[in-house]
Amino acid sequence: MLTSVKFDQTKAFKKLKSHHKTISKTTIKDLFSEDQKRFSKFSLKFQDILLDYSKNNINGRTMVYLNELAEECKLGEAIEKMFAGEGINATEGRAVLHTALRNRSNTPVIVDGKDVMPDVNRVLAQMKAFSESVRSGEWKGYTGKKITDIVNIGIGGSDLGPVMVTESLKPYAKKGLNVHFVSNVDGTHIAETLKGLDPETSLFMIASKTFTTQETMANAHSARNWFLETAVDAEFVKKHFVAISTNAKGVAEFGIDTQNMFEFWDWVGGRYSLWSAIGLSIACYIGFANFEALLEGAHQMDLHFKNTPLKRNAPVILGLLGIWYNNFFNAQSHAILPYDQYMHRFAAYFQQGDMESNGKSTDRNGDEVNYQTGPVIWGEPGTNGQHAFYQLIHQGTKLIPADFIAPAVSQNPIGEHHKMLMSNFFAQTEALMNGKTKEEVIAEFVKAGKSQGDIDFLTPFKVFKGNRPTNSILVKKLNPKVLGSLVAMYEHKIFVQGIIWNIFSFDQWGVELGKQLANKIYPELQDDSEVTSHDVSTNNLINTYKKWRK
Ligand code: F6P
Repeated sequence: MLTSVKFDQTKAFKKLKSHHKTISKTTIKDLFSEDQKRFSKFSLKFQDILLDYSKNNINGRTMVYLNELAEECKLGEAIEKMFAGEGINATEGRAVLHTALRNRSNTPVIVDGKDVMPDVNRVLAQMKAFSESVRSGEWKGYTGKKITDIVNIGIGGSDLGPVMVTESLKPYAKKGLNVHFVSNVDGTHIAETLKGLDPETSLFMIASKTFTTQETMANAHSARNWFLETAVDAEFVKKHFVAISTNAKGVAEFGIDTQNMFEFWDWVGGRYSLWSAIGLSIACYIGFANFEALLEGAHQMDLHFKNTPLKRNAPVILGLLGIWYNNFFNAQSHAILPYDQYMHRFAAYFQQGDMESNGKSTDRNGDEVNYQTGPVIWGEPGTNGQHAFYQLIHQGTKLIPADFIAPAVSQNPIGEHHKMLMSNFFAQTEALMNGKTKEEVIAEFVKAGKSQGDIDFLTPFKVFKGNRPTNSILVKKLNPKVLGSLVAMYEHKIFVQGIIWNIFSFDQWGVELGKQLANKIYPELQDDSEVTSHDVSTNNLINTYKKWRK
């Protein structure tokens, strides 16, 4: 069991409250001029990752108090419990062990008296053999052709991880083997995906922890129908459909050979499952050795998280900084801004990772919290975001802490592109911190020969207050190992915050109600009779839909 500590009643919380009043009077820019050693104090290197958190509204005292907060909330103890396989997902009665999936040290991890590592290694060996046979062309479709297209059918955690990783690691992919992802129950998604595919050379991976998720099952059945339109004989399904699930019974009922089922376990949360068999599409696309490198990178970050003192611990620092802005500066969102086009789904991935984990308002005692928990996570790759929403980050009324992520080495070193990209990466955090004063604006106008009237009118619009906090995460190159470390770093950041907010981060009851109501409404859509069983708004929407669909 996790110790439950009322976060807002800790001594450190009170200290941080009054410290916030003091530090709010100064700016990040001032903090830099007061302390020349700020960069070395507030940055750390983890292998090929440099985390610079010096452009934050913090000083040494802030970090001391934040660390005290972590200690008072028993973060160290919680980390140990997670790695030890204790049932910390108490509302579902489960351990939380995505770390065991990437435990490359292979030390025993005991759940309910049993070491899970032999099972983890068995499924990894199965994934290796399968991915190698698909990649080599040894695995043949029903007409003897090799597989050219993999279609992963899954949603949420059974989709977003593989999508994000295969996109991020595209340069490591095998030529001639494509991956596609179908998640949405909107028929358009599967229809558009299947348009370009050949049933003889397509392989479907039905990825669902529960194997009951409506969207996935609907898409899986439609894919099967599409396949059988050409292949006709249901026996051939074996060669073109595999399953990734914890539900062997459901898989067999669907007609997939359980020989071609890749197992995982209830101690793997959906949004933490890319390291499990859910990563099969990743292993096929980038090769098993690269998949192992991804696991290794995550494992290295796990060891860092587990063994490094809190004050030098990257996920802990990121988590605490998030709490600093969320609970003391009243920031409501957090932007993740990768300056790498391959990482274009990174923020979307952590929307689920973070918001499904920490979007909770009941604490671990069952009481309603009276403080803010998980922030809204959002973001797009730079520099596209700069031409879309950065205006609001720079001059809007909301404080939006942001993480800027970029690789030093480009996978596509074309002309001057990467230097241009990186100059934007460096410039943005500098601009967000420094802003532009009235005096600077006026000086620029004078130099440009503007009239006094224009200067008086335009100056207020061109002033940037600055003092916007950012973290810069510079990596050497976005390879599988570095990506593994990055993802694990963010996963653990989420864990840190959940522990301190005293909430349960590994359940997701909040998505159930909508699912239940959809199941109730679905039969009501079967005929054209008028619906009266809901509120007036819902009744009218349904009845208008029924009229219009005719
Ligand atoms: O959205 C709720 C959820 O349960 C997620 O946590 C999960 O990743 C997703 O649905 C898919 O579930 P499954 O893998 O069981 O199909």
